[in-house]
Amino acid sequence: MSEEMKRIGILTSGGDAPGMNAAVRAVVRTALNNGLECVGIRRGWSGLINGDFFPMDSSSVNHIINKGGTILYTARCAEFLDAEGRTRAIATCKLLGLDGIVAIGGDGTFRGALALSRQVAEMGQKLVVVGVPATIDNDIGCSNYTIGFDTACNTAIECIDKLRDTMQSHERCSVVEVMGRHAGFLALYVGISVGATAVLIPEHEVDFQRDVVEKIRQARLAGTTHFMIVVAEGAGSAVEIGARIHEAIGIDPRVTVLGHIQRGGAPTARDRETASRMGYEAVMALLAGKGNRIIGTRDGRLTDMDMEEALAMEKKLEMYRYDVLEALTAKG
Ligand code: F6P
Repeated sequence: MSEEMKRIGILTSGGDAPGMNAAVRAVVRTALNNGLECVGIRRGWSGLINGDFFPMDSSSVNHIINKGGTILYTARCAEFLDAEGRTRAIATCKLLGLDGIVAIGGDGTFRGALALSRQVAEMGQKLVVVGVPATIDNDIGCSNYTIGFDTACNTAIECIDKLRDTMQSHERCSVVEVMGRHAGFLALYVGISVGATAVLIPEHEVDFQRDVVEKIRQARLAGTTHFMIVVAEGAGSAVEIGARIHEAIGIDPRVTVLGHIQRGGAPTARDRETASRMGYEAVMALLAGKGNRIIGTRDGRLTDMDMEEALAMEKKLEMYRYDVLEALTAKG
């Protein structure tokens, strides 16, 4: 056990993800139950720069495990990209007497954490940061899974199932855009789960004729009279794809951009449970005196990896899932 760990800060940063609250709860309860004091930092790294904090006790996290969003608020903080902003954040850490920080978020959050830890080291100060991956994009290299992904998939599936009802009645084509930033995890998992006619993802170069027109044609030949095209935001715009379909085939698709609805809602069992274990492991890593780490999942187990190493890892979408999708589409 680390003798030096007495007080920790906790923050959520970047795009929110369902299950962040469950992670906050896990960190706070694990910390308190192990004799650590807890300080909540509001609005991510900007809260650290601006000194926006409050003490957290066990009751601060009562009844939040089932809530979407984050009680700590979140933000994307451009100021933290500059050494000057981080110097102010480090001053807040000193003022608060923080020995460690648990940062819950995605890639941008962890890049901020790494920059902070490097600067802290340069300044000869002590502060350890542990990252907990939470993003609906599921795009963190060192972790098979990120908190929020399952809930976002389920939300998108629920919406698309509803769209399918009306598309079926009117014998229409639906083009649905899902989030995911530069990654196609959300689109592909959702596309498989709704039985999409076609899924466009950034990891698979799009040939409009082959990947859209031909898929619709084949589905038509197989007797389908409505079509569901799922587009990852990183692969293009649903509005543009819809217009191109109209131009190429003459049908009049209905376009839906699911947008931020995918980030809300009560977390699923998977997200609550994973967030609880990841939050617990983050505090355990701090207590064990481990350096800057990112918690992750690998082969069903939780890991913690050196932050620098973790951030150098690229996450690849298993393309066999694309093969599964293709194998399951109706062909005439
Ligand atoms: O990273 C999560 C995410 O929801 C992405 O899927 C999306 O591209 C982005 O955040 C949207 O960001 P904002 O909420 O700032 O519009």
